[in-house]
Amino acid sequence: MAGHIPRAFIDELLTRLDIVEVIHARVPLKKAGREYKACCPFHTEKTPSFTVSRSKQFYYCFGCGENGSVLSFLMEYENLDFVEVVESFASDLGLEVPRESQNHLNKSAQKKPHRDLYTLMEEVTEFYQLQLKSQPQAMEYLQQRNLDSSVIEQFQLGYAPEQWNRLEAQFSTAYSQAQLLETGLLIQKEDTNNCYDRFRERITFPIRDKRGRVIGFGGRIMGNGQPKYLNSPETSLFNKGAELYGLYEARKSTRKLQRLLVVEGYMDVIALAQYKISYAVATLGTATTSTHIQQMFRTVSEIIFCFDGDRAGREAAWRAMENALALLSDDKEIRFLFLPTGEDPDTQIRKIKKEGFEQLIDSAVTLTDYMLDILQKKYNISTREGKAHLLNESAQLLAKLPTGLLKVQLLNTLEKLTNVSADIIEKHRTYTDRRIEPTHATRSLSEGEVRLTPVRYAVALLLNEPNLAEEVENPEKMVLYPIKGINFLVKLLEIFEDSPNLTAASLIERFRGSKYEALLIILTKWHPRHSDIQILRQEFQDCLRHIRKMAHENQLESLLHKERVQGLSPQEKNDLKILLSEMH
Ligand code: CTP
Ligand code: MN
Repeated sequence: MAGHIPRAFIDELLTRLDIVEVIHARVPLKKAGREYKACCPFHTEKTPSFTVSRSKQFYYCFGCGENGSVLSFLMEYENLDFVEVVESFASDLGLEVPRESQNHLNKSAQKKPHRDLYTLMEEVTEFYQLQLKSQPQAMEYLQQRNLDSSVIEQFQLGYAPEQWNRLEAQFSTAYSQAQLLETGLLIQKEDTNNCYDRFRERITFPIRDKRGRVIGFGGRIMGNGQPKYLNSPETSLFNKGAELYGLYEARKSTRKLQRLLVVEGYMDVIALAQYKISYAVATLGTATTSTHIQQMFRTVSEIIFCFDGDRAGREAAWRAMENALALLSDDKEIRFLFLPTGEDPDTQIRKIKKEGFEQLIDSAVTLTDYMLDILQKKYNISTREGKAHLLNESAQLLAKLPTGLLKVQLLNTLEKLTNVSADIIEKHRTYTDRRIEPTHATRSLSEGEVRLTPVRYAVALLLNEPNLAEEVENPEKMVLYPIKGINFLVKLLEIFEDSPNLTAASLIERFRGSKYEALLIILTKWHPRHSDIQILRQEFQDCLRHIRKMAHENQLESLLHKERVQGLSPQEKNDLKILLSEMH
């Protein structure tokens, strides 16, 4: 295996590339103020919301949320992985990609922190795959489930051996125990430093993110037993509400995906793929979230939810419908498919094969038909009371649906059904709408994605204007503030102090794969209302003041608490006196 690409090289590459040029060569851009715009290449739209910023070297789409640096652009646009993208840019520029040498890998202390978690997950995937080949019992189980070797290979199924400490034995020279713990592959025994393997004697299913990086595993027991499936926990790599099993594989197997079929389980995705329905994805033991739906709409314009016909399936369908409404638009479609009771896609596809299954898919009901059907079953609309109940619930649901032709039609249908004019139904809706409107401040910063805190606000300002870092004299002093996220702010201040010309995108590349990556991306999308440096400086100073004040209050609070419960040392008494005097 080749060594890591040094960070300095990535930085170098990013300074040599201009995101506007790279994107323009593939998606023609038009200048709009300080930025460039185009219709988004990642979703279908008629008015451009795809924006490229030269100063930040960053792109983002207000429509679908796709965003990143020039590197992520090419990864998404050409469906390449990180290393492939770096290699392709380097060869365009006539550069050789340097690799950190492998020799000092074994001098563990030096190397450990640099080996990243994604590489570890990839190596574990390969390890489990090898284990599978040497474990006849596991191979037999897969055969008994009728999986052929090509899907086993495609989904990189593996086997976690039965020992309690196999992973540490295998990986402790290259990785620390802390890293193994952070991936969720090890579990720490309470109150000790001892760890053991989470997955033992199970078939393993690597879970990849959209870009193909392994972020977690599912593990199925062979035969009967509890729990049937074990999944990786939420970690810094793995956010269950955002990830879809099979999405990477689906994107990889079809160049231009038209639709996605959402099923419940690992085995469903894989069985469908074996029968050449290669566009199925599964949520991972959670309900379908709006993040899942957004994620899918970035890739396709049609989603079909497939549910079991039983009660749990019907409930899951209703919740998926509620979450999907806000994301529907006239160029998108969501449909629902209910399988006969007792069947799941895995059993069904084996009986009726691709053709039969695709007929089922074609007969799936649309979201609005499904919604109206359930509402009419629920309420008795031969009475005025029943109609009122139905309209009331419809109005709540309609409030979530964006304005458009679909909504107009739905209103018309409701009018025909109840004899209440669409106008009145719509007014009822307006009333419900108003109550849920977010405040302007949070919306402008975060589009509802994160809560605005002074620390985050300071970070957002810095990303727009790295020179603001000069405003802070001794950032390291702030580390002691008892405030969430302060370490991250200090780190940014230090980075910008060292390299004031670093763009937001290069910064994101530095934090790629860390727990800060997602937050950085959200904050980078934000624009200050003024671009005047004086005003920004003032806002930044205000923020710092606010942070200092919060730090004081928190410190004061904890000293006062300590004074009550166990008393203070002379030093602490002194601190308290100073804090109290500063508060006034
Ligand atoms: N699941 C889980 N933990 C469990 C049971 C189920 O995480 N203890 C999740 C898994 O993602 C699983 C999905 O829910 O794939 C559906 O569960 P189920 O219908 O019980 O299993 P199947 O997918 O039908 O699995 P199999 O065919 O292997 O029995
Ligand atoms: Mn099943």
